[in-house]
Amino acid sequence: MEKNKEIVLSGIRPTGFLHLGNYYGALRNWVRMQNEYTCYFFIADWHSLTTHSDTHELKSNTRRLVSELIAGGLDPEKCTIYAQSDIPEIPELYLYLNMLAYKGELEKTVTFKDKARQQPENINAGLLTYPVLQAADILIHRAHFVPVGKDQEQHIEMTRNFAERFNHRYGELFPIPRAFSYTENLVRILSLDGSGKMSKSEQQMNTIYLNDDDTLIRRKISKAKTDQGPLVPNSAMPDYIEGLFTLLRLVSAPEIVAKFEYDFNHCQIRYGDLKKQLAEDMIQMIKPIREKAAALQNEPGQIDEVLARGAEKARKSAVTTLGEVRKALGFTHH
Ligand code: TRP
Repeated sequence: MEKNKEIVLSGIRPTGFLHLGNYYGALRNWVRMQNEYTCYFFIADWHSLTTHSDTHELKSNTRRLVSELIAGGLDPEKCTIYAQSDIPEIPELYLYLNMLAYKGELEKTVTFKDKARQQPENINAGLLTYPVLQAADILIHRAHFVPVGKDQEQHIEMTRNFAERFNHRYGELFPIPRAFSYTENLVRILSLDGSGKMSKSEQQMNTIYLNDDDTLIRRKISKAKTDQGPLVPNSAMPDYIEGLFTLLRLVSAPEIVAKFEYDFNHCQIRYGDLKKQLAEDMIQMIKPIREKAAALQNEPGQIDEVLARGAEKARKSAVTTLGEVRKALGFTHH
């Protein structure tokens, strides 16, 4: 690994299927970063236990996710891809950070309150300390940048606080990490009915997943919400139409986008035509990823090999950090 490059880290839970929002919101950023930084990307399988206690499908979900990440452009030669559960140094750091995290701030975390509302029968301590485990993920590699979406910014803010408290109490050890994005405004991929973001956890018609086949992509797009079209020139677009245009801008040629924008602004848009075009261009984008991911999944040995090499590289960095943490804390008896 090259010296002096800044360190980037991000993680994703193995709890569903990658969709267009994950691809354009996260993965494409990661793919670009792997050329510029020392990058760690990992599968947050311990985190998934806070909401998904059944571990039956954990292994197959992890393998699928890794193959989709690689098919989507991550290159194990350029970045380190690993499973969180392969790095035993993380839970030890998590333990130390837990002493620097206060019950009050954990209870106030937005994601905790949301999850507590969603699963009132299972408000476990892991859910409460989720941001501490996430901080351990980040600080174990002394990362500088953490590419995440808006919903994760509070966790990064908490990580900064824990790191500052550690540095203040035990000596400067951690750089203070920052949430990172190449662009000020992340592309927001709306669900096909315009009612919020695409969702990873539910298999549903309003989300396009990277493993949807051509027929399903056509069917989903043809069912996307539209209306009779604008009646007044240069009208504002309703959310669900804006959402379709966002997708069109991502996958179609600029002159095609321009044509449909013109048609919209002149009240002559035919949404059926837009959907047909969008579906075919979307298929061109997704098909190679889907096929590459499927091919990789047929070689589970190869994926496990990627994870083994990733774990080895990640542990090197983790062991170094944890050694310094132990020294700073005074746990050095021999
Ligand atoms: N909490 C993140 C999510 O739900 C996943 C995650 C776990 C993560 N550890 C992380 C992201 C460390 C960035 C850095 O998406």
